Amino acid sequence: MYKFYKLFDRSSFRQPTTADELYPIQLKDVHKYYDSGGIQTPALRGLNLRIDHGDFLAVMGPSGCGKTTLLNMLGLIDVPSSGSIYWGQQPAPATEKGRTTLRRDYIGMVFQQFNLVEELNVYENIMLPLRYKKQKATFDPAELKEWMQRLRLWHRRHAYPYELSGGQQQKVALLRALASRPSLLLADEPTGNLDSTESVQVMQLMQELHRAQRLTIVMVTHAEQWAHYTQRIVYMLDGKIIGEKQT
Ligand SMILES: Nc1ncnc2c1ncn2[C@@H]1O[C@H](COP(=O)(O)OP(=O)(O)OP(=O)(O)O)[C@@H](O)[C@H]1O
Ligand SMILES: [Mg+2]
Repeated sequence: MYKFYKLFDRSSFRQPTTADELYPIQLKDVHKYYDSGGIQTPALRGLNLRIDHGDFLAVMGPSGCGKTTLLNMLGLIDVPSSGSIYWGQQPAPATEKGRTTLRRDYIGMVFQQFNLVEELNVYENIMLPLRYKKQKATFDPAELKEWMQRLRLWHRRHAYPYELSGGQQQKVALLRALASRPSLLLADEPTGNLDSTESVQVMQLMQELHRAQRLTIVMVTHAEQWAHYTQRIVYMLDGKIIGEKQT
């Protein structure tokens, strides 16, 4: 009986063993409705998107068009109301446990609101995802130090989030997303709180990781200027993709 149940338990999503097996990531006719107080807000309305290994793409569109909702779908933070998402040849894990494992092992996220842990200092915040990751061997402290120096965070490594500027918090959030060596980086306006010099530093770091390590990146931005560091720009309106161009 137990075995019979297991056969149909979709938590048996097979975790990819190599990053290649994650791709392509495909969203097919994805709809998402949020329900608040009996009112349904449509956030995604039939979205189709394919992301291949090594893609670097920017998502652009007006406030409220569904960009963060899309990243939450890709980051397995939230699930579609209808439609499907494929990771490689498999439908996305149907259970929270399956989603958490996939997220922990392969995905780094930079949230629009940073989500730093107030009780931990800069260094501890950056190292946090590694506590939960199985393959810690991929982590290189010397490289992390170099990244922190490049983004001018090293001298602030013992500071707590409340002692940092918005831009510094944003850079900590980016390094936290990168420290666990994800295959897929999802960044929600990673330059939103940075001045132009800092934005260039952040965009160059992402570009290097994309080129040198084939990091797949999906980045939300309001500014064409930063979108041009990517290879593909996807334009959204009212929960759908309305156009795309190669940069
Ligand atoms: N948790 C939620 N509950 C109810 N409605 C939500 C929720 N999250 C988002 N929405 C609604 O879904 C739509 C899409 O929101 P989303 O945050 O994805 O937009 P966005 O493109 O990221 O906007 P911005 O550029 O302002 O960050 C909006 O109408 C928003 O009000
Ligand atoms: Mg948003």
